[in-house]
Amino acid sequence: MGLTLAVAGKGGVGKTSVSALMIKALIDSGRGPLLAIDADSNSNLHEVLGVREPRSVGCVREDVRKMGDDIPGGMTKDRFMEYQIQACLEETKDLDLLSMGRPEGPGCYCMANNILREIISKVTSNYSHVVVDNEAGMEHLSRRTEEEVDHLFIVSDPAPRSLRTIARILELLEELKGRIHHTHLIITRVEGSPEDLPENVKKEIARLPFSPEAYVPYDEKLVELDLRGDPLVRISPDSSAYQAVKELLRNVGILNETANTQSAH
Ligand SMILES: Nc1ncnc2c1ncn2[C@@H]1O[C@H](COP(=O)(O)OP(=O)(O)OP(=O)(O)O)[C@@H](O)[C@H]1O
Ligand SMILES: [Mg+2]
Repeated sequence: MGLTLAVAGKGGVGKTSVSALMIKALIDSGRGPLLAIDADSNSNLHEVLGVREPRSVGCVREDVRKMGDDIPGGMTKDRFMEYQIQACLEETKDLDLLSMGRPEGPGCYCMANNILREIISKVTSNYSHVVVDNEAGMEHLSRRTEEEVDHLFIVSDPAPRSLRTIARILELLEELKGRIHHTHLIITRVEGSPEDLPENVKKEIARLPFSPEAYVPYDEKLVELDLRGDPLVRISPDSSAYQAVKELLRNVGILNETANTQSAH
């Protein structure tokens, strides 16, 4: 079973950007095979990865549900669904991308969701690293299909209102205890050095239940790519945001020193 990294946080703080930078760091360090999961129903991970938009798992579930017992080729429903989900994987040289689509269709079909859960864990077991970019908020995480998260990264920008949602997110995480092995805080879009943050922001940060493990700088290179609509994975390796994310992965033991220095080209 591979290592699962999940990125979560309030809306618009920079989750998808952090996910893309993590994915780039893993690719640059020769970590593979890699699976990226877009768990935001408003999918856009494919754009920052420069990958075609995959057909979503949610669509498959709906299609299979509508088919009732009319499964082609004498396949069982589970087998057919597994086959269909495998076909949803957008495969590229560096990574595969799976898009979850909507967390639930109209009405909750728990049976289908259990089958789905099993299929997804079977699919993810083929990869050494899985990176999940989550939808804003935390409520849906408890319904997430993946069983275990090795590293959960909670992302916030330095705005006090965003920082205060971290505590609420951590409270919601209580019910997932045991399934999440390590939790890390990332403050992103930081202008200047963390010491130069306004006093009130520093106070909010000091009040957090645990200290941020990374400050990701506000990065003009990233903004430029975004404005041009170019994939963030093409960011220059000397980008400050990329460097900070790579260093974090090294600090938490996901990347090692050697793999990192070798990836400098
Ligand atoms: N380090 C950074 N420096 C500058 N701008 C950034 C940085 N990280 C993210 N941004 C900008 O912030 C905006 C939101 O980023 P992103 O889409 O990654 O957030 P998100 O949390 O995934 O949003 P959503 O909740 O809508 O999914 C984007 O315009 C992005 O370019
Ligand atoms: Mg996003």
